[in-house]
Amino acid sequence: MGIFSGKKGLVLGVANDYSIAWAISQKLIEEGAEVGFTHLPGEKMERRVRKLTDPIGAKVLVPCDVQKDEDVASAFDKTAEAFGSLDFVLHSIAFAPIADIKCPFVESSRDGFKTAMDISVYSLVAVSRNAARFMPEGGSILTLTYLGGERVVSGYNMMGVCKAALDASVKYLAYDLGPKKIRVNAVSAGPVKTLAASAVGDADALAGLYEAVSPMQRNIDRAEVGSAGMFLLSDLASGITGEILHVDCGYNVMGSPGRAIEASKAGKL
Ligand SMILES: NC(=O)c1ccc[n+]([C@@H]2O[C@H](COP(=O)([O-])OP(=O)(O)OC[C@H]3O[C@@H](n4cnc5c(N)ncnc54)[C@H](O)[C@@H]3O)[C@@H](O)[C@H]2O)c1
Repeated sequence: MGIFSGKKGLVLGVANDYSIAWAISQKLIEEGAEVGFTHLPGEKMERRVRKLTDPIGAKVLVPCDVQKDEDVASAFDKTAEAFGSLDFVLHSIAFAPIADIKCPFVESSRDGFKTAMDISVYSLVAVSRNAARFMPEGGSILTLTYLGGERVVSGYNMMGVCKAALDASVKYLAYDLGPKKIRVNAVSAGPVKTLAASAVGDADALAGLYEAVSPMQRNIDRAEVGSAGMFLLSDLASGITGEILHVDCGYNVMGSPGRAIEASKAGKL
């Protein structure tokens, strides 16, 4: 018996086996959860996700473009048809047009900004509203954020502004849904090599920075994000809502480069 035995939920944001959503899903499944998945519309996208979800016998795999209200509503309707009610929902989605994320924030376009905010931020609002329809006994909603929403991380550009809005959305959603016993939290993950991360910048360089500066002198691995995400979605976190939990080997607490200064002096950096 795992801590998710008898629990059912929907995961949005698996693109492939590198996805953070997949790392969290694996932990949920290990703990006995029944998990449904969405994929971006299109046969190719469906095939990619199906490769992962068929072997685990997932009963739900539905298309969903979070820019479309009707897609979000129908993904939840179909999941509820199969599962009845829902206990948890994972939102692990972000996007910005490449030209807008590669340029300095000050140069970003109005259209790119609208698209990035729609997919990376508003989608959590739409997802939470729909999730609540099927959580009569309460539940847990989780999203993924990054430190670039709290502080400037060079290269993160427009996505940092999206994450700031996402972090604030987590808190307002937690307030709105609290009376329904629905918790809303975020994991703020350190750098993990994924499709989305490759659009943002040099993942190896960023990981090296975490190794040099973080109190634990290393970067996280995706399984650690998986466990922390699973924890926040579980009843073990029943008293936690509106929280941004940093899973980054402590990098976020540093106010200076710390031991990286000594390493640099010793010629090790
Ligand atoms: N990888 C990292 O280093 C890192 C660190 C902190 C936070 N995050 C966040 O984790 C989340 C997941 O990203 P990831 O790194 O696992 O990359 P990923 O590319 O595997 O996941 C991003 C997902 O967003 C989905 N998506 C994009 N546009 C969509 C749309 N219109 N409708 C529905 N889905 C859409 C993609 O299909 C994909 O599944 C993102 O919010 C990302 O910002 C990532």
